[in-house]
Amino acid sequence: MTYRIAPSILSADFARLGQEVQSVIAAGADWIHFDVMDNHYVPNLTFGPMVCKALKPHAKNAAGQAVPIDVHLMVQPVDALAAAFAQAGADLISFHPDASGHVHRSIQAIKAQGVQAGLVFNPAQPLDVLDWVIEDIDLILIMSVNPGFGGQGFIDSALRKVEAARQRIRASGKDIRLEVDGGIKVDNIRRVADAGADTFVAGSAIFGKPDYKAVVDQMRAALAA
Ligand code: DX5
Ligand code: ZN
Repeated sequence: MTYRIAPSILSADFARLGQEVQSVIAAGADWIHFDVMDNHYVPNLTFGPMVCKALKPHAKNAAGQAVPIDVHLMVQPVDALAAAFAQAGADLISFHPDASGHVHRSIQAIKAQGVQAGLVFNPAQPLDVLDWVIEDIDLILIMSVNPGFGGQGFIDSALRKVEAARQRIRASGKDIRLEVDGGIKVDNIRRVADAGADTFVAGSAIFGKPDYKAVVDQMRAALAA
């Protein structure tokens, strides 16, 4: 299993975002998780496609290779902003199915831009829509907090949902990444991996500490244990 760690810049210093992206990549980030909030679908407001475009040149590792930008859309409606993020350099775009009137169409619109598409499930939301669209997506993102804020506590029922999503991925026979978002720390990441996740968003756990690399290294050590 190739695990990926996706630091969420929601908890970064917004006055120094480009440097923060570079620092967390130097610390070993596999993806940059970009939380888009619209003060409508969620009660908070963050950043849009212009900020994504400005950060794109900073999302490179020491060898100059691009580090994927993993855009998590907490917006309603979905399609116009998804297209704008594709133009702004997003590599993956995930949206909440309950925020789109036409989930299949939104997925196709993302993929038509040459970007990978993901679906995001809130803590109290079932996975049923996957019955109809799992063949079309590249990523499933399970929320282990209610979307809108960093620094919340991990909701344990997410582990059962990760297990259920992993079963669906196996049954599909497709290579779909299974990401978990919210409340992930050094001391619970192993449990989340054991439930079947392969990609881990962490905001406050990384940006809340002075030494990002120390946290990423501890997370990798827990995953390897
Ligand atoms: C919450 C966001 C998360 C958030 C996670 O709506 O989707 O990505 O940054 O933050 P932590 O890791 O602090 O729970
Ligand atoms: Zn997120």
